[in-house]
Amino acid sequence: MDRFIEQLPKVELHLHIEGTLEPELMFKLAKRNNVSIPFDSPEQIRQAYQFENLQSFLDIYYQGAEVLIEEQDFYDLTWEYLLRCQQDNVIHTEIFFDPQTHTDRGIAFETVINGITSALKQGEKELGISSQLILCFLRHLEESAALETLEQALPYKDKIIAVGLDSSEQGHPPEKFARVFEKALDEGFLTVAHAGEEGPAQNIRDALELLQVSRIDHGVRCSEDPLLVERLIQEQTPLTVCPLSNIKLRVFDTMADHNIAELLRRGLAVTINSDDPAYFGGYMTDNFQAVHQALSLTKQELAQLSVNAVNASFISPQAKEDMVSKIWHYQDNY
Ligand code: HPA
Ligand code: ZN
Repeated sequence: MDRFIEQLPKVELHLHIEGTLEPELMFKLAKRNNVSIPFDSPEQIRQAYQFENLQSFLDIYYQGAEVLIEEQDFYDLTWEYLLRCQQDNVIHTEIFFDPQTHTDRGIAFETVINGITSALKQGEKELGISSQLILCFLRHLEESAALETLEQALPYKDKIIAVGLDSSEQGHPPEKFARVFEKALDEGFLTVAHAGEEGPAQNIRDALELLQVSRIDHGVRCSEDPLLVERLIQEQTPLTVCPLSNIKLRVFDTMADHNIAELLRRGLAVTINSDDPAYFGGYMTDNFQAVHQALSLTKQELAQLSVNAVNASFISPQAKEDMVSKIWHYQDNY
């Protein structure tokens, strides 16, 4: 089964590019850019990755991002992630980036997006990996800051397919960004939002209604609201679930307690994703393996998770059809 999972064609829909910063690259960029970090080695950085909850992770994650300064840094970060995609047979990826994490430190929006998109272009050309980019607003910051960021994004509309919402969920509900998302929708962006990770099921309802999202990022706390679960099944709303992240941030105690298999078997459009793989101990294949081992998914169910991700992606109907047949063909002939 290890080889089946490794070679299964995969689509990633929930990946923060800043969360792919491996300790080795962090260490290298800190030196290259003369940024001081409170660690003497990549091993020491890795040892610091013990989290109690979302906030304790975010504090370390925003600190780590401070080594990213030049366009080349964003390029290197993205290229390293794409090489991991190649290893895991990820054929399409939709990547979040957090411009405010960088513009608030005086890095130009242009520097960030140019570095990321030039690596994505090369990934498409040399590795055959297609991609889309999703701009996330930091929900712990003000509505006005998100509106400013949206303005900065307008000249790059052709490079950004959607806007999303990440960072601290508790105390920052979807309604805080209803007007920002309304403007983004008017400008032609699709929308997604993190909801029901640490926050209540109500945030999932509000993201659907107030932010008109096409997908819910995480969404695992939907189980606390049976009527909402029924609605998610009916409407086939995709949930971009991140299993290893959920264990590291203690959303579930162990993988055996995770609800992804139950949600899949009930017919929800759940998908598997890696979130912040450099911090949570695994990329796409690792996430599939961990879920399979703890919850005994069949080959058919593993392929279904991949097909769900294709159907939930922001690519053309023709590209979807091609990828779906590729996955079933792989499953049938394995
Ligand atoms: N949740 C919220 N914000 C984030 C996450 C997450 O899992 N990863 C990076 N920013
Ligand atoms: Zn996330």
